Amino acid sequence: MYEDIEQILFDEVDISNATDDIAQRIDNDYKGKCPVIIGVLKGSFIFLADLVRRLNIDFTVDFIKASSYGERTESTGNVKITSDISTDIKGKDVIVVEDILDTGYTLSYITEYLRGFSPHSIRICTLFDKPGRRIVPIKPDYTGIVTDDLFIVGCGLDYNEKYRGMPYVGVPKKQSKKIKE
Ligand code: IMP
Ligand code: MG
Repeated sequence: MYEDIEQILFDEVDISNATDDIAQRIDNDYKGKCPVIIGVLKGSFIFLADLVRRLNIDFTVDFIKASSYGERTESTGNVKITSDISTDIKGKDVIVVEDILDTGYTLSYITEYLRGFSPHSIRICTLFDKPGRRIVPIKPDYTGIVTDDLFIVGCGLDYNEKYRGMPYVGVPKKQSKKIKE
């Protein structure tokens, strides 16, 4: 089915273990609280679904969608919110859930945007982190797997909208260097 995957980097067990660890930490950190878990569309939908099914705390879920256009390395102003949250997060504890943290442009823009609604706290949770690619200095509070600068797909992560449903994560063929939209 996914014969155009050159190399599998993380299998279902790796991803499940990483998700277990994050869920445990969130359960401990938010005991007695009811955070608003905000998934960044589209990439986070699978990780978010896996994560919330492991949580024992109370929480609510919302989504936000951002798009970057033009030369994404040009400026943070190139990120735009294309679908907003519908929850009033004023005074709430917010956890932003992302599939992968790369340059940091998207998440820094989103967290700044959400701060404008005066939440009590905001934390960042990402399944994958590529710290070597960071341009905007932003550090996730919860990281599943730290990975190299390779472009990866699967488990919500896409290349041209493909591979999101792949249960493992790997590098698509002929693209083991780097792909950017
Ligand atoms: P950033 O703004 O550069 O941090 O980019 C974050 C977004 O870029 C993620 O939410 C992904 O949608 C996309 N992205 C970055 N790296 C990858 C990758 O390796 N595979 C698939 N999507 C990626
Ligand atoms: Mg994304």
